[in-house]
Amino acid sequence: MKILMICLGNICRSPMAEGVMKHLLKKDSRHDWEVDSAGTGDWHVGQLPDRRAIRTSKNHGIDITRQRARQFNKNDFERFDHLLVMDTENLKDVRNLANNQPDKEKVKLLLEFKYPGKQMIVPDPYFNELFEESFQLIYEGCEAFLEEFG
Ligand code: 4NP
Repeated sequence: MKILMICLGNICRSPMAEGVMKHLLKKDSRHDWEVDSAGTGDWHVGQLPDRRAIRTSKNHGIDITRQRARQFNKNDFERFDHLLVMDTENLKDVRNLANNQPDKEKVKLLLEFKYPGKQMIVPDPYFNELFEESFQLIYEGCEAFLEEFG
């Protein structure tokens, strides 16, 4: 299974989501899954995750400092089985890049697995500083995804 976590900048939410999913997979001794993250925007390409995302993850025993931001690109539709986005803006932006219906259907809100049909999002913590709250939502989403596909 190949999963790509996606947000806007790839420095706050999707790096934490990549870290959480890898952490949960490690706990399961499941090493054959591939997890990566990307941003729809290109402002932070090559950068470390935001220091607040690094700190929040570290508080939960997860090291995300080996990650570097990259921008989502169309090849990712072929490379990954699931494209999991954080909010409805990401959902629209990524679906707009899909060439066909099956690719569009690969794109889902991460929290769809925890709260089906509710259009629940992981709000952007970059300005509101709610990193712990974001982390908790991401954790719930990853656990729910694994309950369905793990
Ligand atoms: P992310 O957060 O999408 O969770 O990585 C953001 C990071 C940077 C910006 C916006 C959101 N920015 O505008 O620079």
